[in-house]
Amino acid sequence: MLIFTKALEIADFLAIQRNSALKLGFVPTMGALHNGHIALVEKAKRENDLVIVSIFVNPTQFNNPEDLKNYPKTPEADHKMLDAAGTDILFQPTVDEVYNHGLKEGKEIDLGKLERVMEGAHRPGHFKGVVQVVARLFDIVRPDRAYFGEKDFQQLAVIRKMTSDLNYNIEIIGCETIREKSGLAMSSRNLRLSEEERKIATQIYKAMEYVRDNWKTLGQQEALKNAIERINSHPPLKVEYLEIADAKDLQPIVLSDKKVNARVFAAVFCGGVRLIDNLDIS
Ligand code: PAF
Repeated sequence: MLIFTKALEIADFLAIQRNSALKLGFVPTMGALHNGHIALVEKAKRENDLVIVSIFVNPTQFNNPEDLKNYPKTPEADHKMLDAAGTDILFQPTVDEVYNHGLKEGKEIDLGKLERVMEGAHRPGHFKGVVQVVARLFDIVRPDRAYFGEKDFQQLAVIRKMTSDLNYNIEIIGCETIREKSGLAMSSRNLRLSEEERKIATQIYKAMEYVRDNWKTLGQQEALKNAIERINSHPPLKVEYLEIADAKDLQPIVLSDKKVNARVFAAVFCGGVRLIDNLDIS
C-alpha cells in the first residue's frame, strides 16, 4: 500500500493512473476503521482497478468540540486492516494540507430540506463541513466511483446532492450497513462504549425492528412512542430522535402513501456517545 500525505503528490500520481485508463475507486473515512469500512474497500476493489482510501478526521464537520477531541484514533490497526484488504493507496493528510486556504474556504451547496431534518437539524453546520471536505477530497482524488455506508443515510443523500449540484462526474455508491451479530450497527464510535454499553446499545436496533413490524398497524405515532419508551427504559440510552422518513428525500411521510420507500432513523445517546442508525421499514 502506497501512503501519501501531500495533496499535490497524490493528485499527480493519480493523474498518471487515470491517463492509463485505470478506474479509481475512493473510500473516504475518518479512520478508527471497522468491518463496515472494509466492506466498502472490498466492494471498491471488485469494481475498480485501484482503490484509494483517505483517513482524515475533518474538524469542520464536528459541531461539538468534545466530540472532535474524543473521536477514536487507531492508526496502526487502520493501516493493518487496509493493507490486508488490498488497499492500493492511502491518503492521510494533515488539516493544513486539506484546508490550505483556511478552515472557512471551500465549496458550498444549498442543502435545502435536507439540512432541516434529523442530523441536519440536530447537528447545525455538520453537513456543511461534510460537503466542504468531501468536495475537497473529490477535487484531489478525482475518482470514478466513491463509496459510502448507509449507516449515515442522510450523509449519503447530502453527498449525492452535492455530486449532482457541483457537477462531479463521480458515481456515488451506497453500501448496506454492516452489523454486529447482536444487530448493533458497526461504527467507529462503538470503540468508546464499554462492553456493558455495547450490549445495551443493541436496544436501538431492536426498537427499529419493532417500528418496522408495527408501524403499519399501530400508526407512526404510536409505534414510535412505544419504541422510544423501550429505548429510554434502558439507561444510559436516551433517544435524541426516532423518526420515520421517505428514503428518497428524508422528509416525513404519510401512511396512506404506499409507494414510499420508508425508513426509520434513530439518534440515541449511550451515555456520552451519540449513535445513529436507520432501517428500511417499507
Ligand atoms: O462518514 C465519514 O466517515 C465522514 O463523514 C466522511 C464522509 C469521511 C467525511 O469526513
